[in-house]
Order: sequence, then structure tokens, then C-alpha cells
Amino acid sequence: MKEKELNKEARRMLDLIESGTTSMTSENIAPYYVDINTYTDNELFKLEKQKLFKERPLLMAFTCDIKNPGDFITNEDTGIPLVITRNKQGNVKAFLNVCRHRAGRLIDKPCGNQSRGFVCPYHAWKYDLDGNLTSITGEETFGEIDSSLHSLIELPAEEKYGMIYVQSTPGPAQSIDDILGEELGPQLGSWDLGSMHLVNRGLFDMPTNWKLAMDTFCEGYHFGPLHPDTIGASSYSNIMAYDQYNYNHRIGFPSKSIIELKERKEKDWDAFNHFSFVYFLFPNITLLVSPLFVNYFELYPGNEVGEHLTRYSLYTRREMITEEEKKEAQDHFEFIYSVVENDDYWVSENVMKGFRSGLHPYSVFGRNELSLINLHEAFRESVGLDPSGVRLKR
Ligand code: FES
Ligand SMILES: [Fe+2]
Repeated sequence: MKEKELNKEARRMLDLIESGTTSMTSENIAPYYVDINTYTDNELFKLEKQKLFKERPLLMAFTCDIKNPGDFITNEDTGIPLVITRNKQGNVKAFLNVCRHRAGRLIDKPCGNQSRGFVCPYHAWKYDLDGNLTSITGEETFGEIDSSLHSLIELPAEEKYGMIYVQSTPGPAQSIDDILGEELGPQLGSWDLGSMHLVNRGLFDMPTNWKLAMDTFCEGYHFGPLHPDTIGASSYSNIMAYDQYNYNHRIGFPSKSIIELKERKEKDWDAFNHFSFVYFLFPNITLLVSPLFVNYFELYPGNEVGEHLTRYSLYTRREMITEEEKKEAQDHFEFIYSVVENDDYWVSENVMKGFRSGLHPYSVFGRNELSLINLHEAFRESVGLDPSGVRLKR
């Protein structure tokens, strides 16, 4: 993002700080009541797994995760085993990770390189990087079959702005530009997400609904109370610069140091050292972008309505070369992991217990929690429910 735009965002946050306010929705919309069935209803949960996680393209990788022909990653967090790879021409391809002989799991590793194609471990049928069946073991005894009818099952995949979106079911798929809208795609592209450097990956396997876990990433109203010694000490609580892009959003969270900019002429600002952007990419991604780091959280529903899985990956936007730099990156990974585990997800787990009591009928979102209101409207609309249906009479 250009310096001029970063300065404009910093100015916007300084204005919010000065006036002691935050981005807010109108009084007609909030307070907004969310029935707790949103987080506990089994039928809704099943519908979300189908409509949101299987029938829509999801961000599943960045260009840097599979840079070279034959590089691959696997994913079965939507319930569908996938392999995402790059063919000899450099195009991204996604396939069902299932052999066309008797459905053997083709690749049983999270990532790697198979530049010569894939070999099924069960009876060694071979496929090239375009999914074509190229060899049948002992063909003279197996008998003749039409190879073209036994290619790997291809799934819609698109690569743009350094991001790779894949849909877990075959058939037509929305384009990345349709999903993100005109402005957000190029904006994300401007962060060079395609050439980041992976630092580490971690998992959170929490007994909470996936949307409840997502809610914790979508407001800074809790920074002071929940994270008094960490994020709350370094960032303003309850001051957010919010922007919506279709079902996605971005929140600018100012650090307390942003106030220093007021003493300097705008031409001498280093604005992006004093705030961070947290993107929500519908339906399940949180992406925290700062000058050096990109924290990437992928949230998936678990087997039951009260279970979920978060994959956390930390990337740097430039290569960490010295031991000191590498340690800084690893320390950042451990810091963020512990804040999420000990604070945000601790809270989500407890909220889920409160919901399970069956005695707490709804949660309420304030005008300052507009990101959550928009998020839940989007969740509902995308499974065919009335987006305003969660509003109860005050
Ligand atoms: S199942 Fe893959 S070769 Fe038999
Ligand atoms: Fe938090």
C-alpha cells in the first residue's frame, strides 16, 4: 500500500483517538441481538459446512507456499481431501486427493515437491501434475481401461494477488475478484503476499464453535480488559477504523505510539509502524498485516457444532537472515500463539460453556462492534437465511 494511503489511514485513526470514538454503525442497526442458536444449532452448522466450506472457494494457500512446479500442499479441513499443486506451465491446479483406482489417498503429507507427478501408495498408479493418469501398474494383467476417464478429479482453483483460492467441490466457482470486490484484491496484492517467508505453523483444536473463535478477531473493544499486559498495553482499546468489502472487511488498529506522529510533519511519518490491519476474508480467514509480519489464521468447523480447528501460520514480508532476525520472528510467533491460546480462545471456550447452559438466550453487539454485525449478516445471508433474522426486538 502506498505511503500516501497509509498516512491517510493513520490520520483517520488519530482523528478517532482525538475525538475519543471509533467506527460505528447506525443506531438503527445496533444494539444487535444474536440468538445463541447461531453457535449451537446442529442443522445450521451442517448447512454452513456445506454452503460455506464446500461450495465456495476459500483462501487455502499463498503463491509462496507452492512456488515451483510439483510443489504441493494437502488440505482436508473442509472434510474433502485436496491436493493443491503447480503444473509444469506454472499454473495452480487442485485435485481430489483420491486415486481413481480404488480411492487410495494419493499424498499423505502436508506439503512437499513431486515434480515428476504423483504415485498412489496402494498399487502405484501414476498421475502427472495435470491430473492425467499416466501409468497403470501391471496393465497387461489389469486389462485395458480408458485413461482419460480416470484422471484425478479436478477442483476449481484460482491464483491472484499472491493468493490461491480453491473450492472443495467441482463445478462453477466465484472468481477471486467477485469474492473480494474491486478494491480489496489489489489492496491485498499490494502487500506482496505471494512472496512471503514462512516462519512457523501451529494448531488450535478448541471446543468452541468456529464463528465464536472468529468473533474474537473482529473487534478491539476487548484489548484493554482481556489483554491488559500485551496487546492492550501497546494498542488502543475500542478504537477501530473499519472498512467493508463485500462480505470481507479490514480493521485498522492503532498502536499507542501513533500519537508520536502528531509531533511530526506528515512528510516525516513512518505511519505503518504505528498501526496494523486485520483483514477478515470471508468466511474463515483472519490476516493480520504489519510492516514485517503477516499472521494468517484459517478457521474450520470441527466434527460437532461446538468444535473447531484453527491453523495459525506466521510469515515475514522480507527474509529473516541473521540468527537475531530469525529469533525475532520465532518470538513473535510464540507471543501471538500464547495471546490467542491464553486469552482469546480461553474466552471463546468459556463463552461456549455459557451458551451450552441453555439459559443465556442471546448475545448483543454494540454500535462499535459493527464488524461483528456485518460478519453475522454475511454468514446468515450466505446460507440462505434472512441476514436481519438474528435481530431481536429491543
Ligand atoms: S488405489 Fe491407487 S493404485 Fe490402487
Ligand atoms: Fe484478542
